[in-house]
Amino acid sequence: MTALMQSSAWNVLQTHQKEIAALHMRDLFAQEPDRFESFSLRCGEIFLDYSKNRITAQTLPLLFDLARAADVEGWRERMFTGEKINTSENRAVLHVALRNMSNQPIMVDGVDVMPQVQDVLERVGAFSHNVRNGTWRGFNGQRITDIVNIGIGGSNLGPMMVCEALSPYVSPDLKMHFVSNIDGTHIDETLAKLSPETALFIISSKTFTTQETMTNAAAVRDWFLAAPQTTEAAIAHHFVAVSTNVEAAIEFGITADNVFESWDWVGGRYSLWSATGLPIALAVGMDRFTELLAGAHEMDQHYRTAPLEQNMPVILAMLGVWYINFFAAESQAILPYDHHLEHFITYLQQTDMESNGKSVARDGAKVGHLTGPIIWGMPGSDGQHAFFQHLHQGTSLVPMDFLAPINLFKPTDHHHRILLANFFAQTEALMKGKTEQEARADLTAEGLRGERLESLLPYKIFAGNKPSNTILFDQLDPKNLGALIALYEHKIFVQSNIWNVNCFDQWGVELGKKLAGNILPELADDIPARGHDCSTTGLIAHYKARRHA
Ligand code: F6P
Repeated sequence: MTALMQSSAWNVLQTHQKEIAALHMRDLFAQEPDRFESFSLRCGEIFLDYSKNRITAQTLPLLFDLARAADVEGWRERMFTGEKINTSENRAVLHVALRNMSNQPIMVDGVDVMPQVQDVLERVGAFSHNVRNGTWRGFNGQRITDIVNIGIGGSNLGPMMVCEALSPYVSPDLKMHFVSNIDGTHIDETLAKLSPETALFIISSKTFTTQETMTNAAAVRDWFLAAPQTTEAAIAHHFVAVSTNVEAAIEFGITADNVFESWDWVGGRYSLWSATGLPIALAVGMDRFTELLAGAHEMDQHYRTAPLEQNMPVILAMLGVWYINFFAAESQAILPYDHHLEHFITYLQQTDMESNGKSVARDGAKVGHLTGPIIWGMPGSDGQHAFFQHLHQGTSLVPMDFLAPINLFKPTDHHHRILLANFFAQTEALMKGKTEQEARADLTAEGLRGERLESLLPYKIFAGNKPSNTILFDQLDPKNLGALIALYEHKIFVQSNIWNVNCFDQWGVELGKKLAGNILPELADDIPARGHDCSTTGLIAHYKARRHA
């Protein structure tokens, strides 16, 4: 048993869960007409309704007791003040410095990091401005028309998600491409659409050692140099890098002036606010990128200063803990009702699951409870026709976040109202369900009687009581997007405080990488696969026998 599970706050919550487990939200709503006012909150233009959760007036105070017992407020301050809270890598965690607009210094090892942050942001601004207005040109004087970001994980998902989410703001003069996969079709299909004279490649890798990125970058360089007229000198017009490993980027052949620096206190999955966001600045311009940072900063301020009881990231985090640890819910659905937020789900998969997919606590002991959830989802209303059947009538408890913009960039009123009607209807249906009495009345109204009615009845009953949060924002603009992303970043951090795990390392991805390195040479015809289990050996042998078939 971990200290957390032995704490009185945890025990009280366990008892409370037993007391309220049988309560139905439909009854709670009937008894509490002001439930919406009591359980909703606004931060800037982000509005959170958390009334459709399996909570009573007692639940959140008990969850806040747990948060205080886990020193959520202390951890928050440690992060904002540059303490090395990523202990297994001995690093500070300062994505908040990347969007710090307070004019306050942020110190790491006695040095204020803000001048470096501002310097790199200025370089990102100047470079993106020059590319966008045509001052920066390709080696033979043509304008850049295509931007290709080559990176994976945090060096891909954040900028790709933001460029997609803000697509109404993206310059029509620049086409954005994101190549991440080591599957060669990804790079081949992208290069087939490009001309070396007008393409700009961003090699984005914090470490500049990641196999996928380095392999794709080398393939692109070969493709570029193989084109007629291109020379080594032309590389300076078409290749830039984002990395903490400036030397390796230069060694790869990128001019020092074309390297945008990052720092070890920025985690890959928290890095879109840094030069990793260069594709964003190129796509939407530096002013919009700055608005994105401003939105995140506003959420940072809210998270840092609001009491736990009115703190949006803390409330979302503790509701998540409530279901994960006291109802054994293992997954969390993210359901954005906005076509442009499709990659938001994938982005959150990395941010949440790479951060809190941990089973060892900060003290090295095994945790004795569930930690980070499996994140999954699909934009609405598509998801309704894919997996909502399970959400309504399946056997697992899946807490859900429904997200939607109130206004659209381009008015498509008719469609948007239908979309939002579905959005509101789903959370209501999931909460209320349909009783046997209601189902019987519906079937009777449809003209069914007797045996046919009785045989259909069980299928028409919906248990309801399915918890969801609703997040509405005025518009999917850069500022609100920045705030939304920061909201989830902080939620994830708060949950890690409760579980006492370090959400800023990712040792779990190492083993597979290492084994792939061992297996790669064994895929040659003349080198046998050795030292594996019989399944892996058998699969490699089958592959080798059949690959030329
Ligand atoms: O997936 C592991 C990981 O280290 C991620 O944390 C990171 O975002 C990704 O690989 C890419 O790393 P890099 O930016 O160093 O290429």
